[in-house]
Amino acid sequence: MGQSLINHKWVYVARPESEVGYEHYEMQREEMTDDLSANQVLIANQYLSVDPYMRIQQAASHTWEEPHPLNSLQQSGVIGKILASASSKFKPGDWVNAYTGWEKFSKVSANELVKLDPTDIPVTTSLGILGMPGRTAWFGLIEAGKPKPGETLVVSGASGAVGSLVVQFAKKIGCKVIAFAGSDEKCRWLEKSLGADLAINYKHFNCYRELQSFLEEKRIDVDVYFDNVGGMISDAVIPLISLHARVVICGQMSQYNGMLDEVQLGPRFLHHILYKRATIQGILARDFSHRMEEMVEIVGPWVKEGSIVYQESIVHGFEKMPEHLASLFDRGSSGKLLVRIGDEY
Ligand SMILES: NC(=O)c1ccc[n+]([C@@H]2O[C@H](COP(=O)([O-])OP(=O)(O)OC[C@H]3O[C@@H](n4cnc5c(N)ncnc54)[C@H](OP(=O)(O)O)[C@@H]3O)[C@@H](O)[C@H]2O)c1
Repeated sequence: MGQSLINHKWVYVARPESEVGYEHYEMQREEMTDDLSANQVLIANQYLSVDPYMRIQQAASHTWEEPHPLNSLQQSGVIGKILASASSKFKPGDWVNAYTGWEKFSKVSANELVKLDPTDIPVTTSLGILGMPGRTAWFGLIEAGKPKPGETLVVSGASGAVGSLVVQFAKKIGCKVIAFAGSDEKCRWLEKSLGADLAINYKHFNCYRELQSFLEEKRIDVDVYFDNVGGMISDAVIPLISLHARVVICGQMSQYNGMLDEVQLGPRFLHHILYKRATIQGILARDFSHRMEEMVEIVGPWVKEGSIVYQESIVHGFEKMPEHLASLFDRGSSGKLLVRIGDEY
């Protein structure tokens, strides 16, 4: 004990008006020791999570909670290895999942950790399919989407961490799945590897009318719309909902870069909700935190038997964290984005 370490951390210092970048963060260096208080552990972080909610929390106004405070560590999920422990439950070398932030080392109370078994399932799944994105996809779909076999489900942002799971969960339930993504390559992956019945590259359409006409030609009646991105895709899909359709608002990715509170001129779709006696429900992953085990019990075996594809895009570069966050809005890769930092020190 008493050994000193140099920690590097990304501190969030300025609110972005549009795209997030380096100017909104500062990398800070701090000296720390491995001295611990009772029940505390020191973690060497190995993987850092990068998620769209981080951009939402940079809004100046209240969302589901207060905005991310300025001049503080960018909070995030992490996977790390214990370096030192003052807890009887953890020993050096143990893998853990924690909610700390973009930093190389974290000191946390053992009560806030989840122990991971790397011999059972890859530890990275705890930030993806068996973590927050998996919980969002599963409970958002089951509890709000209420899909039934034979129904048609449309999902936007389908190549992302949440969307790629919604596609597969819905296929397991027996739905016909129409998936939206932003490249032909992602669309091929959605159809060939994930089993989507039709994947559509929304970037081939200039406006919602073109997209809506295309969907009408395909005779798509939407029973469940699982929306991750909003914008033009929603404008095209909502008019095509069927009687008693369920619209699940999981995210509005297309509006996070400065447009959340701007009124955009566009079709007003609420009259379709009226005609079709449909429901729109927002869902939040944290509301299902207490049901995590239930999700892992169902989805865990699918992961182990390989009957579900969980794509992880693991990139490197602790010094590029703001860039990794910005890349969520325009990246070529699919699935859960993670930053591997453990091999850099
Ligand atoms: N409600 C909750 O508790 C909760 C929890 C987790 C996530 N979410 C939300 O769910 C959504 C997806 O999250 P995720 O973790 O899956 O993120 P992700 O892995 O980064 O995926 C985001 C997807 O959105 C697409 N996208 C980005 N900008 C877009 C735009 N302007 N128009 C259309 N599509 C765009 C991206 O690729 P392409 O453009 O190539 O398709 C990507 O597939 C986000 O809106 C996030 O905020 C909500």
